[in-house]
Amino acid sequence: MTDIQTLYQETIRFAAEKHASQKVKGLKLPYVVHLSNVAMEIFMAARKTHGFDLGYALQVALLHDTIEDTPTTRVELEKVFGKDISDAVWALTRDCRLLEDYRLSDSLAKIRKCPREVAAVKLADRITNLQAPPKNWTKAHIREYLYDSQQILAALHGANEYLEKRLEQKIEEYNTYLQPAGKTGMVKV
Ligand code: NI
Repeated sequence: MTDIQTLYQETIRFAAEKHASQKVKGLKLPYVVHLSNVAMEIFMAARKTHGFDLGYALQVALLHDTIEDTPTTRVELEKVFGKDISDAVWALTRDCRLLEDYRLSDSLAKIRKCPREVAAVKLADRITNLQAPPKNWTKAHIREYLYDSQQILAALHGANEYLEKRLEQKIEEYNTYLQPAGKTGMVKV
């Protein structure tokens, strides 16, 4: 069996090549920074979660945005990484054939049918994305992002206690970006 380190290296290389031309949203950092942040959350969750399949979760974490944000297809992922990984990444993909408003709830419904590690990746993804919002975001946009985050937390309840607690805390912290600028000095709209 392949060791975790080799699995990680092969997978992050594939993902980094696929996302090569992209930056982290709102920042000038290569996209792979986002992927490694999600992977880090998964490493920490694995230490706290009994019976957690770390190899599977890490691969799903590193590949989670490939179908949504790059020309990678489900078929290609299945060929390279197998059906379990490809199904998981598909569940984590917002289906662009649906109306915008239905995409998140559709994805969450698919995630709930997958092994719990897939929900853990979704939680980890949102935890890492709840950093300071990009400067050009309006309060309405921030509020919407917060609402989506609460929807994720509610829909995936029971999937991973450790990551749920972390997301809950991040949501609480993110609320400060909705407060008047004078109070926190952080919000600019
Ligand atoms: Ni992501």
